[in-house]
Amino acid sequence: MSVHFIGAGPGAPDLLTLRGRDLIAACPVCLYAGSLVPEAVLGHCPEGAKIVNTAPMDLDAIMAEIAAAHAAGHDIARLHSGDLSVWSAMGEQIRRLKAMDIPFTVTPGVPSFAAAAAALGTELTLPGVAQSVILTRTSGRASAMPDGETLANFAATGATLALHLSIQNLPRVVTDLTPFYGPDCPVAVVFRASWPDETIQRATLATIEAALDPTIKRTALILVGRAIGAEAFTESRLYAADYDRRYRPQSADSEWSEWQHGDD
Ligand SMILES: C[S@@+](CC[C@H](N)C(=O)[O-])C[C@H]1O[C@@H](n2cnc3c(N)ncnc32)[C@H](O)[C@@H]1O
Repeated sequence: MSVHFIGAGPGAPDLLTLRGRDLIAACPVCLYAGSLVPEAVLGHCPEGAKIVNTAPMDLDAIMAEIAAAHAAGHDIARLHSGDLSVWSAMGEQIRRLKAMDIPFTVTPGVPSFAAAAAALGTELTLPGVAQSVILTRTSGRASAMPDGETLANFAATGATLALHLSIQNLPRVVTDLTPFYGPDCPVAVVFRASWPDETIQRATLATIEAALDPTIKRTALILVGRAIGAEAFTESRLYAADYDRRYRPQSADSEWSEWQHGDD
């Protein structure tokens, strides 16, 4: 019997991988992080499943629940929002599972930054504008930021920033980023991407604080950068008609002709 960590996606119950959905449906026990995973996702649980909201539990209590289900011979679906590779608290649970010799699997999910970009209909990496996306946060009560991981350091790159867990720190975000990106830099705040009450606020660094609905205090992403909604960017060379590439050699003596007809 295993603990299956499953990225539950940004909220919409159909934004899960098929593997994640099928694993949830196969597990008689489901532990979910109820602060961010909506109940709609629990519709994938089998009838009669034991469903536990871990939001009010501490780590010891969560691990005790897992250990008891494992001892009873049950597979366990462990759901965290978005993808598990960022801010999921999976790392500390895995460390405890290893110590208890309980096997586990990990199934990725749709991260919230991708759902927010989809809601905006925006590519976050545009040719000549931004070619990197930095997933970061500002420090909160539960987690301090390591030295060096400052907004100023990230802003110095000019990359698109996807700021998680930071909507309460919006004034500080604006103050720290404006010297690097400029007051006219586009900003989008996406609240509850993919939920039925998803809302989008587009503005600039100069106007976002006044524009944003003050009731938005959590479950929101702040996306900052010149790529947000940009129209003035060059097309990528990848699909240019004259671009010589492995899958579209432009002449018989193209270096890619051999590749196309070779073994690779
Ligand atoms: C604890 S982190 C979890 C991140 C998650 N593991 C992921 O892959 O996106 C919670 C933060 O993710 C962001 N977030 C999660 N779900 C979101 C959603 N549906 N819409 C907007 N932001 C979301 C918010 O910034 C929120 O404060």
